[in-house]
Amino acid sequence: MNKTLIICDNLDIALLYQVNLQVYIDSGAKIINSFDNAEKELKISKGLFDFIIFFYKLGEKSTSKLIEASKAPNTSIVVVDNRENDSEELHIADAHIIQNIFDLKSILRIGAKTFGITAQMMANKPLNSHYQLPNRLLPLLDNPPCEIYSKKGDEYISVSKEQIKDKHFFIESKERLKLINYLTINYMEKYIELMSSKEALKISENVVENLAHQLTKDEAQAQEVLDVASKAIKVINSIIRKEKPFLKLFKLLIKNQTNYLYVHSVLLQYTTKHILENMSWGNDEQIHKMGIANILHDIYLTPLYIKHPEFISETQFLETAVFNDKDREVVESHAYMVATKIKQWNQMPVDLDSILMQHHGAKFGRGFPAQPDTNIIPLARVFIISEAFVEQFLLHNKTKPLFKYNIIFEILKKKYKSKQFHQIIDVLTSIEIEKD
Ligand SMILES: [Fe+2]
Ligand SMILES: [Fe+2]
Repeated sequence: MNKTLIICDNLDIALLYQVNLQVYIDSGAKIINSFDNAEKELKISKGLFDFIIFFYKLGEKSTSKLIEASKAPNTSIVVVDNRENDSEELHIADAHIIQNIFDLKSILRIGAKTFGITAQMMANKPLNSHYQLPNRLLPLLDNPPCEIYSKKGDEYISVSKEQIKDKHFFIESKERLKLINYLTINYMEKYIELMSSKEALKISENVVENLAHQLTKDEAQAQEVLDVASKAIKVINSIIRKEKPFLKLFKLLIKNQTNYLYVHSVLLQYTTKHILENMSWGNDEQIHKMGIANILHDIYLTPLYIKHPEFISETQFLETAVFNDKDREVVESHAYMVATKIKQWNQMPVDLDSILMQHHGAKFGRGFPAQPDTNIIPLARVFIISEAFVEQFLLHNKTKPLFKYNIIFEILKKKYKSKQFHQIIDVLTSIEIEKD
């Protein structure tokens, strides 16, 4: 097995790195969590580790000395810059600097290059039926997203996490990516809550990215989706420049990237793009138009979501009593409000206002009908199914990780009964998620 050394005083994060390295690039990793131990370890093992990951904050200035000491001809060094006051950019010769602690993607990419591992090699690697993980991960798994097992002799027995007494536990090998992804997102979200908003913003991209990874495993496709989102943001920006109050709202939405509102708007790009690429009548122009709708549709709810970060759907707003009449009216008519606003600007794509107006199924943009009106436009139907999917996806990720993706499609089919909706759901089922 390839060897990595992780020098980091935050054991939870070190564990997260360790398990990601194991699963994604087949590297075992030793964790050292104090400066003194790191110094000793490097003296003994110089040249033994091909890949060393440092947390810069560990000893600040002395860390530089340590990094210098660990340099060896075939060793790749990554320095994770976790300083709180990072006004000056960190430069260390011959080391890769990672700007945020959750940029696992870059760390894994450098590791893969160091070890000469490709995704293809990992996919072809023969695995046993069950996959072994250290029991130190268990406290990070509030609700394990798959069955966990302990081993008795040759047998694997399904147990609760409290029943694990050994140093290791097991999961079915096919569940390993799902578990690692769940663990990573869960931990990031917990960590974000403890951070200042500036720091949180720095790592929020990684939360969206990790969630998005569950919707597509294809890097190029993920990039394309993010391109649709950033193109939409540019177009909106250029059109609303002179609309001061609306621009303020828009900036508020974009700035709060950890908020559900932003996260669901970006995830919507995956589902709408997938559906429109696979419907017989879909085309690029519609994908672009939908890209704008995805970002704008709930814009009038931005202040409410910021005030109530615990909510992950609009219907939750209605079920709660914390709102005054004015807020309630905004929730009821946010679709109407954004559609009528957009209609004033003739540079916006044709029919964009109808998608926005009908995005909850009400032809004239007010309320949340249980069954959408029959005469809404086809793109509004695509939007409704996409959003219902993303909502379920996020809800399951948070509250019921032990779920099967196919359940979401069943829920959607029960909720949206007409044939036109079922056709869209059928197209959505081919999205590249891990289906069980
Ligand atoms: Fe909405
Ligand atoms: Fe929404």
